[in-house]
Amino acid sequence: MKMQIAVLVSGGGTNLQALIDAQGNTLTSGEIAVVISGNPNAYALQRAQNAHIATEIVEKKRCGSQEAFEAAIEAVLCRYKIDVIVLAGFMTILSENFTKKHPGRILNIHPSLIPSFCGEGFYGLRVHEAALRRGVKVTGATVHFVNEIPDGGQIIAQKAVDVLPGDTPESLQKRVMEQAEWILLPQATEAVCAALQEETL
Ligand code: GAR
Repeated sequence: MKMQIAVLVSGGGTNLQALIDAQGNTLTSGEIAVVISGNPNAYALQRAQNAHIATEIVEKKRCGSQEAFEAAIEAVLCRYKIDVIVLAGFMTILSENFTKKHPGRILNIHPSLIPSFCGEGFYGLRVHEAALRRGVKVTGATVHFVNEIPDGGQIIAQKAVDVLPGDTPESLQKRVMEQAEWILLPQATEAVCAALQEETL
């Protein structure tokens, strides 16, 4: 049985697209059962629908509290019998109450080489702005397990990307996505699904 994957998104969903495109080639031990968005306007929802993948919207502000928000996500995970959760540009921090229920089963993609430019407040373009401000010559992406510390869980995979003269946050973000994120996330998701599949044999 393939591991059932929930992909949690908030925005454009290019990493979700990389996972969708990897199904059947890089990603064979798991399949995306549902895409959960914290934002009803996320383009990622359209990408899921185009691929005939079920979508669910769970908005924190409608839930009223972190607890209710996480309970609503748990209910979806239960309904789809989810084994693995992939945070692909999901912009809400999950509490320890949530993460401790799924040890070794929540992955996140972060657009820098952790431990640089990570933790609370470092997300999306801000990460690349910080890297350019600091003047690093190499940055990259990291896939890691999610625990109670933002960007603090065990590192699964990393890939380095050069910073080039004249880079803007946007040009750097694009290169990191193309050269690292879209390759690394499907590979790491497959590795985790394959290992879990072994365990359940
Ligand atoms: C990606 O660059 C991802 O690494 C980053 O947000 C972007 C989402 O793009 N995630 C974080 O910064 C998490 N801290 P996408 O919606 O096109 O996949």
